Amino acid sequence: MGAHATLRLAADAGGIAEAARLLRDGRIVAFPTETVYGLGADATDGRSVAKVYAAKGRPSFNPLIAHVADAGMAGGLVEMTDAALRLAEAFWPGPLTLVLPRRGAVSDLVTAGLDTLAVRVPAQPVARALLSAVGRPVAAPSANPSGRISPTEAAHVLDGLDGRIDAVLDGGPCTVGVESTILGWKDGVPVLLRPGGLPVERIEEVLGQRVAHRSGEAINAPGQLSSHYAPEAALRLNADAPEPEETWLRFGDGASDWSLSPTGDLEEAAARLFGLLRRADAAGRPIAVAPIPTHGLGAAINDRLARAAAPRP
Ligand code: TXA
Ligand code: MG
Repeated sequence: MGAHATLRLAADAGGIAEAARLLRDGRIVAFPTETVYGLGADATDGRSVAKVYAAKGRPSFNPLIAHVADAGMAGGLVEMTDAALRLAEAFWPGPLTLVLPRRGAVSDLVTAGLDTLAVRVPAQPVARALLSAVGRPVAAPSANPSGRISPTEAAHVLDGLDGRIDAVLDGGPCTVGVESTILGWKDGVPVLLRPGGLPVERIEEVLGQRVAHRSGEAINAPGQLSSHYAPEAALRLNADAPEPEETWLRFGDGASDWSLSPTGDLEEAAARLFGLLRRADAAGRPIAVAPIPTHGLGAAINDRLARAAAPRP
């Protein structure tokens, strides 16, 4: 992809129709979801999907999530097992991705050759309208250069990908702020592949069963990349107090410009996490982050922070 202008589209009827037209025409378009902005391509068209990998600089072995308008459309792409149907009923549309046996219809580039496909029905109204208008599954990783912080505003998308993608549909800030929870099955046992915007405790309530946590090997999920969501600055975790030069991201510690949530609310902290990391990075000093509880959305927040702090290649 050569450098070319990236269209900014407002998330009104005209902008959504234009984004849908571009996607159907094989272009790549960033769009808002309730978790993070995705970089979309027609999942049935390998040439379009290849542009997404190229724009992100993403290793081609890392498969993508197919976004669909509703559970019925998901059923055309994957085998919806009984457990999957129950979870879809409870949590779709919403921040849950299910990895299920695939049925064909999407490009092999989306699944990177696996015999499973990750599917999700996002809840964000602009995303829903867009997916209905496209009428095809839309493959979409987070709309950031591979390995960097995920975007929760249209401006973040342009920071990383301006000139490398065809358009961005500006639907305002993402309300959840961390990526979807990814659940798969191994020998019939539900396995958490990535903690995310839906707390795993809620999945366990619906399934009436404990969810196993992914152990080292197995599938190419982002956890296998040691460094991910990385700011430019050094990042220190579980910091009860800052060093003099550090920007200190606090939690539940009263009002501060740098607080993830002054009241100690994990949903608020998730929604603010990536934006605050970007702001701290721009301040140009090393970053320290206070301890964050590990229950509920805290699992996803701690997961992203651990990867952001991991040794860089
Ligand atoms: O909230 C989200 O999930 C966002 C928004 C845009 O929907 N998307 C997102 O996509 O986070 P991405 O590509 O950054 O992360 C999806 C992860 C990939 O890292 C990949 O490893 C995993 O999902 N994945 C995709 N297909 C898979 C499969 N068939 N089996 C196992 N893991 C899979
Ligand atoms: Mg990502």
